[in-house]
Amino acid sequence: MLNAKRVLLIVTGGIAAYKTPELVRQLKKAGASVSCVVTQAAQQFVTPLTLQSLSGDKVYSDLFSLTDEHEMGHIELSRQADIVIVAPATANMLAKMAQGLADDLAGTLLLATDKPVLVAPAMNVRMWEHAATRDNVAMLKKRAIVFIGPDEGEMACGEWGEGRMSEPEEIVAAIAAFLDAEAPLKGKRAIVTSGPTVEPIDPVRYIANRSSGKQGHAIAAALKDLGCAVILVSGPTHQPDPLGVQTVHVESARDMLAAVETAFPADIFIAAAAVADWRVDLQAPQKIKKSGGAALPEIKLVENPDILAAVSKPGPRRPALVVGFAAETETVIEHARAKLAKKGCDWICANDVSAERKAFGGDENTVHLITRAGIEDWPKQSKTAVARKLARRIADHFAAQTHVSGKTSA
Ligand code: C5P
Repeated sequence: MLNAKRVLLIVTGGIAAYKTPELVRQLKKAGASVSCVVTQAAQQFVTPLTLQSLSGDKVYSDLFSLTDEHEMGHIELSRQADIVIVAPATANMLAKMAQGLADDLAGTLLLATDKPVLVAPAMNVRMWEHAATRDNVAMLKKRAIVFIGPDEGEMACGEWGEGRMSEPEEIVAAIAAFLDAEAPLKGKRAIVTSGPTVEPIDPVRYIANRSSGKQGHAIAAALKDLGCAVILVSGPTHQPDPLGVQTVHVESARDMLAAVETAFPADIFIAAAAVADWRVDLQAPQKIKKSGGAALPEIKLVENPDILAAVSKPGPRRPALVVGFAAETETVIEHARAKLAKKGCDWICANDVSAERKAFGGDENTVHLITRAGIEDWPKQSKTAVARKLARRIADHFAAQTHVSGKTSA
């Protein structure tokens, strides 16, 4: 039920830490891979060696360890996880999280992560009921931190009340339920194109463009994060293949079209690639030589296939939702609207790529989403944020359709 999910488990220093080896065992049994971070205090209750043996991964504890930093920067540790679990979460750790303290590896990771964080508190009932803890819990809930438990029962200190850490199986079930709710695109397949295409002139020269692939790769990752099965067809970029996304590397527009066709069928198609409009008609088999005089080589261009238009064509294999991009330098909305009609796609993400906007290669993007129903102007934001917003918007679109078809069939 947690198949291929990467869990980062942060163990803080409460007596309930003795249950974490069992938690690791059950997470692994459910199909997750687990990396553990232990605080100094946690090591009084559970040994890193136990957690390492059960998780099969190195246990991290030191913020300033040269080896850890060399092997994996602490930010990287939180970025590579799908979900972060703090179990047990002590009153002290909840207070640190509420204040954003980063004085050890656990605190730093929790401040640096962009992934969902779930906490399983464990503490004495009076500490749990203390006004300071109540305030911290309220603040953390407001920031979308998810609480699992604590349960009521007998405490290690002999008192009775709320404050016991939930049992490992309850924590695993809560994580699975959370991930399920977070996966509205589960069961859907998407094909995303990204990056530039490269059109050869001869064996050493080519025509290309400035696309970095940042936006398309971020969209592939964001769709995958919502449970979608994603095939990314990418032209040459410096972006790493997104984790958990099947990536097919191509060079030319014709290669890209062939890879997209091989990747079919799909429910969603997103054309984020900056496909070259033209290719060189006859690629020279050998490097074209300088003739050292008046006779300059002439390059004849021919039109490339339009992948977006081809995929948008009505027919049984047309994906239910086809989204194109319109990179424009002027009258962005008008051009994008015209493109929507011309290509036959369902939505267009229009962005201004004029030199002053620096969208090409930059980390930010200003997008206008054009659908047949109207225009949404999204504020300037990081390409990752644009990708997440688009993925959410797609999930909402499918949810609304299910709702409508549910109603009509009822
Ligand atoms: O026509 P234009 O290149 O402006 O259209 C941009 C949109 O069309 C983008 O979504 C791009 O990925 C897609 N496109 C394509 N194949 C082409 C040209 C553009 O899929 N040959």
